[in-house]
Amino acid sequence: MMAASGASPEGAASERDAARWVRTMFGRVARRYDLANHLLSANVDRHWRAHTVRRVRTVLSRSDARVLDLACGTGDLLLAMEREAKRALIGSDFCHPMLASAKAKLARNGFHSALLEADALALPATDETFDLITIAFGFRNFANYSSALAELRRVLRPGGVLAILEFTQPPNRLFAAAYNWYSRRVLPLLGGLISGAPDAYRYLPDSVQKFPDAPDLAEWMKRAGFDRVEWEYLSFGIAALHLARAGEPSIME
Ligand SMILES: C[S@@+](CC[C@H](N)C(=O)[O-])C[C@H]1O[C@@H](n2cnc3c(N)ncnc32)[C@H](O)[C@@H]1O
Repeated sequence: MMAASGASPEGAASERDAARWVRTMFGRVARRYDLANHLLSANVDRHWRAHTVRRVRTVLSRSDARVLDLACGTGDLLLAMEREAKRALIGSDFCHPMLASAKAKLARNGFHSALLEADALALPATDETFDLITIAFGFRNFANYSSALAELRRVLRPGGVLAILEFTQPPNRLFAAAYNWYSRRVLPLLGGLISGAPDAYRYLPDSVQKFPDAPDLAEWMKRAGFDRVEWEYLSFGIAALHLARAGEPSIME
C-alpha cells in the first residue's frame, strides 16, 4: 500500500501545519491522555510497552548507554525503561502539556529521568549521541517519516538501536475489518467522551490508515541506513514493534 510521507491531518497544507495541528491536538488531550489510552485499549498498551522494554533490555542494562525515549508524551515508556535500567534516562517531546504530565508522573513515582522539549525532526543533539532511541506511538505523527529516520540515524551511534512501537494495519482481513469498524465508529465516540476531543480520536484511525504498513516501514528504515531491521506484530497486528541498528555512515555522505 502506498502511504503518506508523513502525518497529514485533515486541512493541513504543509508539514509545518501538520506538526502544529499534532502538537495542539496532543496539548488538548494531555490531561486525559493516560485515562483514554488505558480504557480504550483495555490496558493492552501497558503490555506493548512492557514488551518493548524486554526487547531493548540488553542496551538498558549497560550503565553507560545513552537512552532517549522520543515523543515520550506523558512518560509511560520512559518510566518503564527507567524502572528496568535503574537509572535516569532522557525523554523528549514537542508538546509542553504532555511533558508537564510526564514531569508530574515522574515526580509522583520517585523517578529522575530528564525531560527535553524538542521536535523529533530537529533534535538538539550532536551526531552519534545515543545508543538507544525508543518511540512509542509517536512516529506515525511525525510530519515527514524520511526526515525523521534521517534525524534518528544522525543522532544514533553506529550500531545503536532504534525501537519503533506503532499502530499498524492488522494483516488478517477479517480481523482488520472488525478492528477498523471499532476504530472508525466506536473509538471517536468513546475517545471523544473521555478526552473531550472527538477530532483527536477521528485522527487516530485516519493516521493509522495512512501510515506505512509494517513491511513497508521496515523498507523505509533500511532505505534510511538502518540494518538488522526486524519487526513483529503485537495483538493480532493492531500494533507492531520494529527494531533496527543504525548502520555505519557511508563514506559518500
Ligand atoms: C500518541 S502520543 C505517545 C506518547 C507516549 N510515547 C506513549 O507511549 O504514550 C504521541 C506523542 O508524540 C509527540 N510528537 C508528535 N510529533 C512529534 C514531533 N515532531 N516531535 C516530538 N514529539 C512529537 C506528541 O506530542 C505526543 O506526545
